[in-house]
Amino acid sequence: MAQREKADRHVPVMRDRCIKLLTLGVQNIRADGHRPVVIDATLGMGGHAEAMLEADREVSVLGLDRDPQAHELAAARLAPYGDRFRGIHTVYDRVDEVAVEELQSDQRVAGVLLDLGVSSLQLDEASRGFAYSYDAPLDMRMDASADSPDESVAELLAHIEAPELSRILREYGEERFAGRIAKAIVTRRETTPFTTTADLAAVVDRSVPAASKRTGGHPAKRTFQALRIAVNEELEVLSRTIPHAMDAVAPGGRIVAMSYHSLEDRIVKQAFARRTKSSAPAGLPVELEEHKPTFTSLTRGAELPDETEIAENPRAASAKLRAVEKLMDPRRTQA
Ligand SMILES: C[S@@+](CC[C@H](N)C(=O)[O-])C[C@H]1O[C@@H](n2cnc3c(N)ncnc32)[C@H](O)[C@@H]1O
Repeated sequence: MAQREKADRHVPVMRDRCIKLLTLGVQNIRADGHRPVVIDATLGMGGHAEAMLEADREVSVLGLDRDPQAHELAAARLAPYGDRFRGIHTVYDRVDEVAVEELQSDQRVAGVLLDLGVSSLQLDEASRGFAYSYDAPLDMRMDASADSPDESVAELLAHIEAPELSRILREYGEERFAGRIAKAIVTRRETTPFTTTADLAAVVDRSVPAASKRTGGHPAKRTFQALRIAVNEELEVLSRTIPHAMDAVAPGGRIVAMSYHSLEDRIVKQAFARRTKSSAPAGLPVELEEHKPTFTSLTRGAELPDETEIAENPRAASAKLRAVEKLMDPRRTQA
């Protein structure tokens, strides 16, 4: 199936819930006399962006993505919305700068959407090297353009020391056999450098004891996830991004974040908690203005997709959605 066709058919994760949450942010901004702009910080194939543009005929959407291929597909899909949509090729930690650069004086950021991780486009495009199930050059950069500052997995594996590699596999992949795999990789590269996904998958497969291969999917799954997170610096970038998104959004505006593994979810949860809870030191008799929370949580813990959605789209199974709204007193907040 052509990529364009796939993009059009792809149903975004927890789409209706995301759009409902963002729409109330849009209404808050409008009630305040400003023109609302929603920033889709993870544009991907443009599925959530399209649903937002459809849900409110006057909202504008700025779509950020570090992947040039995502922009090509999303631009074609969202062309019918004319200048209500604009794509910006950037890493999402610049979300606050983009808002300053792009918004007109009567516009405010009504929402920021973060649908984290890799897109089905990236996973399905064998040549990008994200999947252990296809043989392809060992790349995994979300931005693999000629001027990308990022290093490919093949480049990383050519020089990384075994202890650092082991740490990456353990922390980002929760890999039990991190030490063994790291050692096997470093030993193997002394004779032949790694260039393909199949090559790496085979070395990982040989380093994992047979008894533990019976559960937990393909033995290379966790190694591939860990290396992808490392070369794209996903966790460092995300840690910077949530506070920037919280700065960018206007009072009454909302942030909706969906994560797909516990490391991402922890970063989102902690960053949201820092501004939804009072920062007053324990025992202070009166809460000072500067210690008061500036956001309120719209979700109790994390929301999960329902079983019907998971049955139709297995990728949704690990999604966890959290949302917050910037406070604007006096206001009643609806979830
Ligand atoms: C799960 S997909 C988004 C799918 C999208 N919501 C849709 O409906 O098609 C995540 C996207 O975020 C992008 N992305 C991941 N990390 C990024 C970062 N640090 N900066 C900008 N884009 C990023 C990926 O390139 C990918 O296209």
